Amino acid sequence: ILTKLEKDCATPLPVLRHVADAMAADVRAGLAVDGGSDLKMILSYVDTLPTGNEKGLFYALDLGGTNFRVLRVQLGGKEERVVATEFEQVSIPQELMFGTSEELFDFIASALAKFAQKEGEKFHLPPGRTREIGFTFSFPVKQTSIKSGILIKWTKGFVVSGTAGKDVVACLNEAMKRLGLDMQVSALVNDTVGTLAGARYWDDDVMVAVILGTGTNACYVERTDAIPKLPDQTSTSGLMIVNTEWGAFSNGLPLTEFDREMDADSINPGEQIFEKTISGMYLGEIVRRVLLKMTKSGLFGNSIPEKLLTPFVLRTPDISAMQQDTSRDLGGVGSILYEIAGVNSDPSARKIVVDVCDAIAKRGGRLAGAGIVGILQKMEEDSKGRIFGKRTVVAMDGGLYEHYPQYRSYLQEAVTELLGTEISKNIVIEHSKDGSGIGAALLAAANSKCEHHL
Ligand code: BG6
Ligand code: GLC
Repeated sequence: ILTKLEKDCATPLPVLRHVADAMAADVRAGLAVDGGSDLKMILSYVDTLPTGNEKGLFYALDLGGTNFRVLRVQLGGKEERVVATEFEQVSIPQELMFGTSEELFDFIASALAKFAQKEGEKFHLPPGRTREIGFTFSFPVKQTSIKSGILIKWTKGFVVSGTAGKDVVACLNEAMKRLGLDMQVSALVNDTVGTLAGARYWDDDVMVAVILGTGTNACYVERTDAIPKLPDQTSTSGLMIVNTEWGAFSNGLPLTEFDREMDADSINPGEQIFEKTISGMYLGEIVRRVLLKMTKSGLFGNSIPEKLLTPFVLRTPDISAMQQDTSRDLGGVGSILYEIAGVNSDPSARKIVVDVCDAIAKRGGRLAGAGIVGILQKMEEDSKGRIFGKRTVVAMDGGLYEHYPQYRSYLQEAVTELLGTEISKNIVIEHSKDGSGIGAALLAAANSKCEHHL
């Protein structure tokens, strides 16, 4: 089973090259016309990137990762930059992921209201001024302006009823109204877009942002004249951040029977195939499915442990933890297997389990690397030398990238293999931790209608 798995999910250079080329082609086709490819290539309406001059007090909401966050940021302009930040985070209660739109948005608005009440003296807003929010909403949204957008569909296990097809800013406004909270959304952004803006604030070379967490996605800075589907070409900068929604990519991926079965059993079969192959929500589940098949052939003795039959019981942090075990008898792997699957294992079975984890992490990391190269390749084709010929930064965030060292090295390895050592020296992949909250606040500042004074 292991040999077949390794063969089916192998990512030799030709496979990576195919994925990178197909990603570049899908990016182009999705920019030409809506529905032109698997990639939605969503226009963010962010056409001014942070300059450092942003000033004032802004709030940010961040919904869509493992945790929901509320932040407040005091921006002090060029000299002082970020003067103060505070945040609180809570994990979204499981039942809200399956509830109604009102329940979810009421929860968000009430967390915001409680947080806003605790505003201390470090933060200033001229009297009478409404507090403004940068809203990071990490799902596919068809933006209609910088501060409005319609939810296309939920991803990452959310099945909240009544939001798809609605303007998510209106949903939040209604919830704030129900609570009597007087705040207003000045920017609605995807987490990738927030991450790009947050990282760009400190570094002008940031051109791409990627999330590798529960889900996965990428955005980048595009020239407006390279976006045929953009109705109004009057952006002053001539640039716009485009949210690729690359989780929906599906071209030429090396998939296994386990991926196909997981997809068929999922709440969104046939959708988000790249995301299901490389992101944190799914890697543990793919491994569980492989281990279940191995168990049926006697990997852990004669019985099939009850717990291993439970979908999503093995999480990506568990498979990462197993891969960090360097002891000779793989005792740490044994304990995790015992706790999670209720099985007793010997060192040789544990070694097989680690190899399964490695095969799945390797494929994920390398395909993520190929996806990044695909986007850079498209940008380079349009502006010879301006991407590969100079320092270009890819800002990265998300728990998977942060906490899975092997995944990270496989990603970097694929980028270097595809670009060669010389060019890949110019491509800097940088972790930009929690940048999307501050990024959203910066974009709220950039799009604020008020003059902010400290
Ligand atoms: C965070 C961003 O840092 O990373 C979120 O602020 C994003 O908006 C997240 O969704 C990804 O996190 P996770 O929890 O899915 O790894
Ligand atoms: C999912 C969402 C996307 C988000 C990504 C990372 O793919 O559809 O909008 O950016 O997860 O959080």
